[in-house]
Amino acid sequence: MQKFFIQGGQKLEGDIPVQGAKNSALPILSASLLCDGESVLENCPELSDVYSACRILTSAGCQCTMQERVVCVHADTLRNSEIPENLMREMRSSIIFLGAMLGRTGTCTLGYPGGCELGSRPIDWHLQALRKMGVRVREENGVLFCSALGGLHGAKIHLQFPSVGATENIMLAAVLAKGDTVITNAAREPEITDLANYLIRCGAKLTGAGTDTIRIQGVQKLHGCTYRIMPDRIVTATWLAAAAATGGNVRLLHTDLNSLEGILDVLEQMQCQCSCQADHICFSAAKPIHAVKYLKTMPYPGFPTDTQAIFMAALCTASGTSVMEETIFENRFRHVDALIRMGADIRTIGRVAVIRGVKQLHGACVSATDLRGGACMLIAGLGAQGQTSITDISHIDRGYDRPEILLQNLGAKIQRVSA
Ligand code: EPZ
Repeated sequence: MQKFFIQGGQKLEGDIPVQGAKNSALPILSASLLCDGESVLENCPELSDVYSACRILTSAGCQCTMQERVVCVHADTLRNSEIPENLMREMRSSIIFLGAMLGRTGTCTLGYPGGCELGSRPIDWHLQALRKMGVRVREENGVLFCSALGGLHGAKIHLQFPSVGATENIMLAAVLAKGDTVITNAAREPEITDLANYLIRCGAKLTGAGTDTIRIQGVQKLHGCTYRIMPDRIVTATWLAAAAATGGNVRLLHTDLNSLEGILDVLEQMQCQCSCQADHICFSAAKPIHAVKYLKTMPYPGFPTDTQAIFMAALCTASGTSVMEETIFENRFRHVDALIRMGADIRTIGRVAVIRGVKQLHGACVSATDLRGGACMLIAGLGAQGQTSITDISHIDRGYDRPEILLQNLGAKIQRVSA
């Protein structure tokens, strides 16, 4: 069990290299299952979720190595299409291996995925879509036996909501299926485009990623390639919000400005100074930042649900009152109690949170409730007066690559301590 101890109140100052995107790396690792030969994935962040994905690949018989944030996968030795229960429970993205495994072998046996507790998080749309593509799904004691013995075929699939995971699973199942697949009301997140770009580089015939209609023409084979994972837009937002909460002055390097829709305009409303050039952002914030009247989480290109907790931490000490509405997950305000313990003035009514800015937060003993809730605790602790200790930081390690080293380099007083 490890903890973070933060002595808050230091302005963050300096350069921040932005890590590769977890939510791109995970589906791309799954996609590497579909390829003959070697896939070399550069800029893979060192995260527990990435290690879990590598364990799923090796348990299936693939060879998978990671060195200096480069993952090499050989899927030619794949021999097993059963994903062990313990690996399924390690993260939500384990479900993304279903489409790829079916695409490659025609069968997959797996349990329900684990991951952050943000609500019920069903997988019904994934299974409905795969059934349309010829997959038979039988469930026994929580184990799903999925098979498409005659092979998968293309289908027209309309998603009732632009689910990121369901869109990815359909893409992964469709690239080697017989015939054409059209996904309408598809998710448009930049990570979908990154997955599509990787698949296209491997020989897939796919158009429309980044729009709400994705067309895929199945091919017989895919080949491995060298691919660089895109920069993480949620991590970019996290460090910008941390700089805002401390009145800091930072430069984010190697980020992707095009993926920051729904984020940069919020920072402008907070009266922070952002100057964007090529692949970096110069950012400064004077305390107190301004409140944001109304923020509603929406699928891309709206304000991302993954940044709701992160911005809430910064808005706790803004001048004025901010209102945030969470529309994607039913249970994504679990960080609010800890913020209140640190002196924040927040009321929640259902999926709406009203945040009245206070002058200062104070340190407290808190725990990371989930990945982004944990990032929220980090930001609150960095901006607060006094010491904050954060437990359950394994949640944070699922999405942030050694955050304490990065923050120490910016002048923060933060230590990882093993209990
Ligand atoms: C992805 O989760 C991300 N995870 C999440 O990031 C992110 O919060 C989410 O998309 C929304 O942007 C990864 O990419 C690995 P969804 P995913 O399917 O795919 C409901 C983080 O912090 N739904 O778009 O699981 C679902 O319950 C993580 O990095 C169904 O009802 O999200 C939710 O309310 C957390 N049935 C909504 O749709 C289904 O079959 C959106 O979920 C599928 C989803």
